[in-house]
Amino acid sequence: MATAHTARKILVTSALPYANGSIHLGHLVEYIQTDIWVRFQKMQGHTVHYVCADDTHGTPIMLRAEKEGITPEALIADVHKQHSADFNEFLVGFDHYYSTNAPENKALSQSIYLALKGAGKIASKVIEQFYDPLKNMFLPDRFIKGECPKCHAKDQYGDSCEVCGATYNPTELINAYSAVSGAAPVRKETEHYFFKLSECADFLKEWTRSGTLQGEAANKMSEWFESGLNDWDISRDAPYFGFEIPDAPGKYFYVWLDAPIGYMASFKKLCADTGLDFDEYWAQDAKTELYHFIGKDILYFHALFWPATLEYSGYRKPTKIFAHGFLTVNGEKMSKSRGTFITARSYLEHIKNPEYLRYYYAAKLNSSMEDIDLSLDDFVARVNSDLVGKYINIASRTAGFINKQFDGQLRPSSNNPVVAELKSSAAMIAEAFDSREYGKALREIMRLADSANGFVAEKAPWVMAKQADQTQALQEVCSDALELFRLLTLYLKPVLPKLAGEVEQFLNIESLSWTSVTEELTAGHRIQSYQHLITRIDPKWILDMTEANKENLTASPTVAPVKASVAPAETSGMEISIDDFTKVDLRIAKIIHAEHVEGAEKLLRLSLDIGEAKPRQVFAGIKSAYDPDQLIGRLTLMVANLAPRKMKFGLSEGMVLAASDESGGPFILSPDAGAQLGMRVK
Ligand code: 2FM
Ligand code: ZN
Repeated sequence: MATAHTARKILVTSALPYANGSIHLGHLVEYIQTDIWVRFQKMQGHTVHYVCADDTHGTPIMLRAEKEGITPEALIADVHKQHSADFNEFLVGFDHYYSTNAPENKALSQSIYLALKGAGKIASKVIEQFYDPLKNMFLPDRFIKGECPKCHAKDQYGDSCEVCGATYNPTELINAYSAVSGAAPVRKETEHYFFKLSECADFLKEWTRSGTLQGEAANKMSEWFESGLNDWDISRDAPYFGFEIPDAPGKYFYVWLDAPIGYMASFKKLCADTGLDFDEYWAQDAKTELYHFIGKDILYFHALFWPATLEYSGYRKPTKIFAHGFLTVNGEKMSKSRGTFITARSYLEHIKNPEYLRYYYAAKLNSSMEDIDLSLDDFVARVNSDLVGKYINIASRTAGFINKQFDGQLRPSSNNPVVAELKSSAAMIAEAFDSREYGKALREIMRLADSANGFVAEKAPWVMAKQADQTQALQEVCSDALELFRLLTLYLKPVLPKLAGEVEQFLNIESLSWTSVTEELTAGHRIQSYQHLITRIDPKWILDMTEANKENLTASPTVAPVKASVAPAETSGMEISIDDFTKVDLRIAKIIHAEHVEGAEKLLRLSLDIGEAKPRQVFAGIKSAYDPDQLIGRLTLMVANLAPRKMKFGLSEGMVLAASDESGGPFILSPDAGAQLGMRVK
């Protein structure tokens, strides 16, 4: 299939991210996975359209906008800009990135609903739901909190307890309250609309058998079929940010009804913009292909609700659904306290190059639903050794000779067996990309890079360059090495599109596609001068990134407690050695500026001079005891080598020492007269 010569027409989607949060490294697994597949298929010469959108409707977005004092439209417009910029910089090449809050989506959602109704698949039923009598709104389970009925932990959500893991109904919560207003919720009747999924079991069983799902997903489906399919509640009461249901004033489509229809809407807009034919991709008998990339957590929506919705409203069904697992960082769930909850933006600020992450994810990805781990140490090691040490190395060790000694002109040898070896792997690599076995593809590509490096090492052009009678051989070896480099670049291009583009420029060749495997750099071809293409990751960037993302969850002010009457070892319950103590860089600091921090109850912002080029900013929890003006000019002690902490108000770059206990404080410490700023405490 991968090397089929007839061009296919393919529509691809990734799941629509919610419009109330930032794109983070977890999201990026899916967008990078999809983008690689799309780029690979495009390189095969297929016609591929890759669409996505922001998922904009629902209660959380409505309430968040209200809290920020803006309209939901303003909130989602702002988030749309941020998401688009993030995707763009990570080289996720959507052909169209839209919003579910768009006229095309409204029209499609309403017409699909009416078609389902016409097909007898919609029922209405009066149900009882929790209602906030202060806010005058019905409350989703997530917005009801209370005491866990099992372990009695306070402030647990209406569906499950984060402390003991119990799941229950919101009715079972003790002393339930509305997370929106704090009021005790009351039960209230309301009419809701349901999609009769219970009537779709036969169709869905048939559809599942058609090989649309991965093995693990098909097994999950069987479990769901066994436990029986329930009708799906697709309506919500006003106030709700979404689309109103036709002929049902005050009733809105539940966000999950119009979200997947957003795939169609985004494509519809692309059709309007570019003249594509919508029906060719969505009509019941469409001959084109449709693939949805999703996370395993939303399989239920995509493998049950979505195909049933399409079937009974007269549209085509997906060709395949590709579900992937979750991301862990250093083997654990992403965590704000460990600094591993990293946004796309924060990655770009610290690591800059998105292709390192694309490469690492690709190396870890396969076609299963298993979770993948971003081990940060392994990330540094892998990228540095594979991309810099193996791949780029081939060009950096050979291009200079061509540029300097042969005026950029190539003279390849004929029948180099290593070139033949690299070419012979093309079909296997293509098959691996096509079947989403990216890890396998990259292992093969790196094996080939090893062969290429072996060739360069064996010929040792740097030795040839010193021997006058080796001029032609030198030109041939370096030309062959660049041909090997060209082939590796072609294979890596779905993963590293930007770097591949730079290599194309350097080699002075047309944009590489998969058929370029059969071509070659020819004698007399001129390359451009070689510029350094990629740098190693400095482990310090990673450290800075995780430090900057560490959230001070207890919101404790940056003040070290020094309890005069209690030895530090007792306070912390452990002894430290003199070596431990000398790790602490204690300095005399001069407070050159102090001010209140807007919105902070306990903190003052201090600027501390310790004799460095720039003063340090430290947030200290001493507002209750000091007037900022009174502090300016005085000396105190600070911990100067504390890892910087990102606080709500900015970066805190150290800690000042202060004493306190129940009887009073904080009292900041001062040195005796004569001490100078910058002095070390020993
Ligand atoms: O789970 C999510 O993040 C959803 N916003 C995904 C929606 S995908 C599609 F169906 F719209
Ligand atoms: Zn509990």
